[in-house]
Amino acid sequence: MGDASTSAKGDLKLSNLTKSFGDFVAVDNLDLVIPEGSFFALLGPSGCGKTTTLRMIAGLEEPTAGSIHVGSTDITYERPYKRPVNTVFQNYALFPHLSIFENVAFGLRRRGIKDVKEQVDKVLDLVELPHLAERKPNQLSGGQQQRIAVARAIVNRPALLLLDEPLGALDLKLRRQMQIELKWIQTEIGLTFVHVTHDQEEAMTMADTIAVMNEGRIEQMGSPADLYDNPKTTFVANFLGQSNLIKGSIESNGAESLVVNLFGQKIGVPRARSSAKDSSILVGIRPEKLRILPEGESTHGNILPGGVISDVSYIGVSTQYQVEMPWGQELMVFEQNDDGIAPLDKGDRVTLSWEPIFTFGLDGREDATAGSEVHVDEEE
Ligand SMILES: Nc1ncnc2c1ncn2[C@@H]1O[C@H](COP(=O)(O)OP(=O)(O)O)[C@@H](O)[C@H]1O
Ligand SMILES: [Mg+2]
Repeated sequence: MGDASTSAKGDLKLSNLTKSFGDFVAVDNLDLVIPEGSFFALLGPSGCGKTTTLRMIAGLEEPTAGSIHVGSTDITYERPYKRPVNTVFQNYALFPHLSIFENVAFGLRRRGIKDVKEQVDKVLDLVELPHLAERKPNQLSGGQQQRIAVARAIVNRPALLLLDEPLGALDLKLRRQMQIELKWIQTEIGLTFVHVTHDQEEAMTMADTIAVMNEGRIEQMGSPADLYDNPKTTFVANFLGQSNLIKGSIESNGAESLVVNLFGQKIGVPRARSSAKDSSILVGIRPEKLRILPEGESTHGNILPGGVISDVSYIGVSTQYQVEMPWGQELMVFEQNDDGIAPLDKGDRVTLSWEPIFTFGLDGREDATAGSEVHVDEEE
């Protein structure tokens, strides 16, 4: 206790962090600064290197290269129990023979702290389960056990709490509830949370900052809104929410906006939102930004005529359309059901339009499907 690393505080800094297993590079030269007190999510498909990254931070895996700092303290080769780090895994193993109180008190007792009651009571209050203190783990629901696993980790006041898919074993409704609760707990106690997940909605609900990881590298990092509005790669555009990506060519390059030819139709793209490298561009529009109108009705902004509705899904708050465009591509349109007008039907001929400011542009040589088929996850 009281040595430099255990009490280290400050930003978590990963520098050129790399882990190879034989020839295979699982984590490839990560450079990341995670600000103290933030809720940071590492988001990516199964196998992209998330757990390996956490295990290096926790000291359970030795990096092949690079370093890990908390503040100015180098913890790269520090022994796990000496790090200012606690981890909550998906399979939160509580001690079955100990009461909930003793499960939470475990870390404190191991550190030789005698008077544990006040601290244990405080975290049990925080996870709103003080009334279950005397029960055994098998008398709790899955969600309650997970909250105790979190309580057990934060009672030690680590500078860093690592969460590896902690909600993966819970059903969807409970998961949503726990997301809000975990976020609230993090705000209450102000620790740095590094949360690993393959669930983009989960990352967006909870995190201040998301790093999207793909094949051992960070594709893009930013706030949930920034990543959603300004994806820089097709992987991010498809993995975080859904995107319509249409192949086009840039015809003119103005100070404010680009004129792009999409299969014969001229549309505008804000220049600042394009990461195209030359005239080849993938024009991106999120499905909820598209308007859908019966053919012949007048509209404004960027316009794509000649669509035919190939599928309609009515899901209460919104209707989701799939529209086949003249060049054969299916585009997705999400429309809010807020105008009392009956949804359009399959086979209807329609015009799509949207405001130019909602358009983003990606490098036209990228694979337009990257990141779109990885949502179904083997980890579940
Ligand atoms: N001990 C190991 N030996 C060999 N390969 C490993 C080992 N641990 C992880 N890997 C590989 O490294 C890659 C990243 O794994 P992991 O970090 O668990 O991914 P994620 O948590 O994002 O699903 C995977 O391809 C996995 O098979
Ligand atoms: Mg994992």
